[in-house]
Amino acid sequence: MPMTWKWLSCACVLLLLAGCGDEQPPPDSPGTPLVGDLARGGQLYDNWWAVALVNPPEGEHPLWATRPDQESNTRKGPTTWRCKECHGWDYKGVTGAYGLGSHKTGFAGILGSSKEEAELTSLLKETHGYGAAGLSDQDIADLVAFVRGGLLDSAELIDADGLFTGSAADGATIYRQGIGENKRCAACHGQDGLESPKDDPEYEDFVGLIAVDNPWELLHKIRFGQPATKMPRGVDADVTIQQLKDLGSFSQSLPTER
Ligand code: HEC
Ligand code: HEC
Repeated sequence: MPMTWKWLSCACVLLLLAGCGDEQPPPDSPGTPLVGDLARGGQLYDNWWAVALVNPPEGEHPLWATRPDQESNTRKGPTTWRCKECHGWDYKGVTGAYGLGSHKTGFAGILGSSKEEAELTSLLKETHGYGAAGLSDQDIADLVAFVRGGLLDSAELIDADGLFTGSAADGATIYRQGIGENKRCAACHGQDGLESPKDDPEYEDFVGLIAVDNPWELLHKIRFGQPATKMPRGVDADVTIQQLKDLGSFSQSLPTER
């Protein structure tokens, strides 16, 4: 009998003994292919513990001590566990915006990763330590879906001077009307991007300021929203590259301070 048949008949007997599989296997059981949610994966990339509703991790990420540049980025604690802290908002690591300045770690980017699903799953779960840190198999599957299908090369939208290459006038319309069914940016951030969506008087992360300081972060936030808030995700409304460029250009025309 060929090997596979032996295994199959074995599995059948086991199924019969177990009551012929009436019950659904638990979602995390091995062998059940998990369908990753790319949009949620994008939010986990930003701040996984806020999205997965687990405790922030203790101490530094296991790979933090191995960063090629030990001088530039001296952050400690949970922030060293955020994917973006090592791989960047542009997913390009040391060859992107985090190749300079206080966020530089020297780690490589992930854009264009050619790793297969299974390899990425074990890399994130084991090598990167996210299984032990509390992420479920579904969380990992969402991250893998994001890595495989959600990354965008910002060079398509942002030029070498950090400026979005869209139309600010068209962006103004999108900012005031929203993307698809998504609520308008202006409803939460104010017409000029200076209002706090949470009515926090101390709020300083103005849309215009982030757009100018860190256009790659703005891009990620427009596509995936702000973790653990009601900010809508552009990817859910199938936001186009052109809309992203236009929104980016308009955001860069907004005031950066009150
Ligand atoms: C402390 C820094 C650090 C953090 C945080 C981090 N990584 Fe990594 N990552 C690395 C290093 C270093 C490598 C390359 C080493 C390796 O392959 O083991 C890597 C490799 C990768 C790769 C493989 C890229 C390729 O070459 O194909 C992917 C994908 C990846 N990381 C995704 C993530 C995701 C998603 C997160 C967040 C859930 C994350 N990383 C968080 C440091 C980090
Ligand atoms: C339903 C309300 C809502 C809508 C609509 C919304 N946002 Fe947000 N946004 C938020 C909230 C809440 C935060 C987090 C604010 C905080 O941390 O205090 C946020 C955060 C941000 C941030 C990051 C700033 C920070 O706090 O780090 C940017 C940039 C941003 N939004 C831009 C936009 C743009 C551009 C649009 C339109 C495409 C938009 N938002 C639509 C609610 C919204």
